[in-house]
Amino acid sequence: MKTFTSPEELHAWSMEQKRQGRTVGLVPTMGCLHEGHLSLIREAKKHCDAVVVSIFVNPTQFAPNEDYAAYPRKEETDCALCDTEGASAVFLPKPETHFRGVCTIVAKLFNIVAPDVAVFGQKDFQQEAVIRRMVRDLNFPIRVIRAPIVRDPDGLAKSSRNAYLSPEMRTSALSLSRALFAAKQAVEAGERSSAVLEDAVRKEVTASGWVPDYATVVDAQTLEPLAEVRPGSSAFLLACRKAGLRLIDNVLL
Ligand code: PAF
Repeated sequence: MKTFTSPEELHAWSMEQKRQGRTVGLVPTMGCLHEGHLSLIREAKKHCDAVVVSIFVNPTQFAPNEDYAAYPRKEETDCALCDTEGASAVFLPKPETHFRGVCTIVAKLFNIVAPDVAVFGQKDFQQEAVIRRMVRDLNFPIRVIRAPIVRDPDGLAKSSRNAYLSPEMRTSALSLSRALFAAKQAVEAGERSSAVLEDAVRKEVTASGWVPDYATVVDAQTLEPLAEVRPGSSAFLLACRKAGLRLIDNVLL
């Protein structure tokens, strides 16, 4: 596996792959890789010959009171994991490569790597929708693939931030996925009212001490809030806070 810090060298390598008739996939990450990320690498490998994993903790994705400095960084372990999963290259851009915002960093990565496919996790539902829209609006010749959320056996969505959960917090955090699965079941049983579903989800997480930032049924493509669920093209998006931590989760309805 190759390791690149220079955008120019990575670009040259990627172009060489293509000259040899190989397709290139991109998995952008902020490192501290867990099973969720590894599932993205495996997904990318299904669709292309060479997979590039980028690892960059993007400062502009953290609010002033968020955990940028404390955000876990594990470059060596991350590179070893990428190697084991069969990635062809890892890209570790230097901090002076001024990346700003999600769309900017991803657009820059698209220009540097020129991938044929790029894989994003469903966990960050809005991010994937925004990137898909950027790809369409800016005519990037890239296929965006959404890989399903990877969960612990008890339902908790994998997240690098789960490392901050005390055993007690972790137990209460299960209320998020429990509430979302119940909403999905209700829709399968015929419920269509977003207000009814949103109310039930809020109650479930609040009972476990989590304060919802949002708990909303949206159109899965436009992210517009929906008054009525449209099965097959809706999603329930949830973000909750407790004791200085913020967790997100979602389900397709
Ligand atoms: O999903 C993430 O980890 C980040 O938002 C991404 C796509 C790597 C951009 O910094």
